[in-house]
Amino acid sequence: AIEETLVLIKPDGVARNLTGEILRRIEAKGYSLVDLRMLQADRDLLAAHYAEHEGKPFYEPLVEFMQSGPVVAVRVAGNRVIEGFRVLAGTTDPTTAAPGTIRGDFGRDWGLKVQQNLVHGSDSVESAERELALWFA
Ligand code: CMP
Repeated sequence: AIEETLVLIKPDGVARNLTGEILRRIEAKGYSLVDLRMLQADRDLLAAHYAEHEGKPFYEPLVEFMQSGPVVAVRVAGNRVIEGFRVLAGTTDPTTAAPGTIRGDFGRDWGLKVQQNLVHGSDSVESAERELALWFA
């Protein structure tokens, strides 16, 4: 079915000038960019976005990291795009993410408290609806 997903280019992706490359890969796959904004996320937005991770050891470093610079939020549409973008992104840990994926090609472990893994993609239809409502209010 046609779906929409939320892609975030995290502060490390923006700082490393990978925004164009990441958007290019999404478009090359055949997905459509529906809406896009660059913003500095605040704590309230990130607390809502990452509510399911509250209390985990990486939660605080994650919320700090996500405020360390601008992010690019993208509404992306396509058949099975939720699963498809997660395959394009690669697994969470950039050290072991497969080459050919965004994280596998451009990410690595920097020895910091949180995985700086360049991108986020919604993990289900329900998450996508919830997250898109937050970032494109
Ligand atoms: P994301 O898809 O944005 O969702 C939660 C984020 O937390 C994840 O990407 C990583 O940036 C980070 N993360 C998840 N698991 C860990 C972990 N075990 N250690 C550090 N950071 C993590």
